[in-house]
Amino acid sequence: MKHLIRGRVLNFHADPAETEDNHRFIEDGAIIVEGGKIAAIGDYADLRADGLAETDHRPHLILPGFIDPHIHFPQVQVIASWGTQLLDWLNTYTFPEEARFSDPAHAARMAEAFLDRLIEAGTTTASAYCSVHAGSAEALFAAAEARNMAIAAGKVMMDRNAPAAVLDTAQQGYDESKALIAKWHGRGRAQYVITPRFAITSTPAQLAAAGQLAAEHPECLIQTHMSENRDEIALTRELYPQARDYLDVYEQVGLLGPKLMLGHCIHLEPREIARMAETGSRAIFCPTSNLFIGSGLYDAEGARAAGIVAGVATDVGGGTSYSMLTTLAEGYKVMQLRGQNLHPLAAFHWATRGNALAMGMADRIGTLEPGTDADFVVLNANATPAMALRMERATTLAEELFILQIMGDDRAIAQTYVAGQPMKHAATPG
Ligand code: GUN
Ligand code: ZN
Repeated sequence: MKHLIRGRVLNFHADPAETEDNHRFIEDGAIIVEGGKIAAIGDYADLRADGLAETDHRPHLILPGFIDPHIHFPQVQVIASWGTQLLDWLNTYTFPEEARFSDPAHAARMAEAFLDRLIEAGTTTASAYCSVHAGSAEALFAAAEARNMAIAAGKVMMDRNAPAAVLDTAQQGYDESKALIAKWHGRGRAQYVITPRFAITSTPAQLAAAGQLAAEHPECLIQTHMSENRDEIALTRELYPQARDYLDVYEQVGLLGPKLMLGHCIHLEPREIARMAETGSRAIFCPTSNLFIGSGLYDAEGARAAGIVAGVATDVGGGTSYSMLTTLAEGYKVMQLRGQNLHPLAAFHWATRGNALAMGMADRIGTLEPGTDADFVVLNANATPAMALRMERATTLAEELFILQIMGDDRAIAQTYVAGQPMKHAATPG
């Protein structure tokens, strides 16, 4: 069944931070959805047809669904935990909470709650860290499959420096990841992400096993953390004294390349920056988390200038919001503190096509091009009285986007479409 969705349509074909011809905006636009895919995009007047079902979202904006390339599914009840920086935060709050995911019933309930939060926030794809328990990944993949969501996820591999309840072994981490890849990778819209948590919680043997998995499954993304916090870096250097730097720990086991997404990358050495650019390894900027845990200010322009492909992500529950709008607002502020500017067009490109590029999925998501998956979001820049008041003075699309970025949150998400289906429970206002 074909369905026409009408609204003010915005789609990016290049990065506004790099290219002048970067987007198409259609004031009275439409998308035609068929079989979960986008069949057409254009002017409403050109696409309308007698008998074609229509949903009219005017005056709201229609953009590709947001993509969150770094988020922790077992931290839905860790978000907003007080008073610590990274290593204490992990030990005090995070590991005990993740231990609860050994219970399949708990994992199943949290998986539904997690995906509800993504939909509410307008996020249609995420790359999620699960807990160490294979069952937590099973729960998330099953819940995502039921909603037909393109979720990328992996069980964390961690075999030291944490409580026994959240540890596997090098062999178990390999075997369970391998079995999950066989079962889930490429099933429906699911993707498996090889997920060694970070250098501190993996022995050299386990990181080697992660490298072996990556070599055996070049189709899989890989995610881990790097250079988020000074104490984390110092401990990593102690644990891996033979490595040239933090990145080298991952380089020596063969993890570098365009499939690797490195969360945080705040305190980088010049060699690390050059090597990430050379290998195409991705940096993932997590602004609400970096401010909340007190980790530091990511150098977005420095990374770009060096040629590093970067994503921007929530990192819930170190991050403090599921909203990519809020994440872009905090990203703007972090860049301000570094004397850098994030233009609203570049910001919305980043959360859509930019993150799709970081995840190697730009041919399917992060875009409204015909033939791609019909994951998109409907944005209301007048969602709150404060926003409506400010909108009275907005005259350009860029201003409207910036109001959404700085003042918007899940209330500004009028609807979230996944594979052509409206997923937000509340009725959509006009
Ligand atoms: N480094 C290792 N694990 C984590 C985590 O769960 N959150 C954050 N922010 N950093 C990490
Ligand atoms: Zn993280």
